[in-house]
Amino acid sequence: MDIFSIIKSDHKKVQDTLESMLDTSSGDEQSRRQFTDQLRDLLLPHMSAEEALLYPLLMEEGDPELAMEAIEEHRTAKHVLSELESLSPGDAFWHARCQVLSELIEHHIDEEESDIFENASEFLDKQRAQRLAREFEQRKQTFLKEAA
Ligand SMILES: [Fe+2]
Ligand SMILES: [Fe+2]
Repeated sequence: MDIFSIIKSDHKKVQDTLESMLDTSSGDEQSRRQFTDQLRDLLLPHMSAEEALLYPLLMEEGDPELAMEAIEEHRTAKHVLSELESLSPGDAFWHARCQVLSELIEHHIDEEESDIFENASEFLDKQRAQRLAREFEQRKQTFLKEAA
């Protein structure tokens, strides 16, 4: 496993969760709460690990513009996620807010898996990419422990 495959597999889980969220109806308040918690537990540790390990490398060795745009996208996604959490799952706007969050995250994932991966693979050799994968997983675990 290298950092690219770890990130991709996290993205897939996030996308599946968002899809499940969008499939719920306003009567499924419990599912909406559970999926939103699941999304938070997937997304926040992942973003924290990217911010701690991947983006600083892009700032120093790659394209800083890509890193800064990604950081801003994280900030926006976290904001909309917290706004979704503050909305009652039965609220008429819940689905629309979830849709906007999903679109933000989809756009971010697309850029990460294309431009950012391309840029990072210019300076990350195989060995470094594998070492980063281990650090990435550790960072996610630490984040979860600290949040608990
Ligand atoms: Fe990501
Ligand atoms: Fe990201």
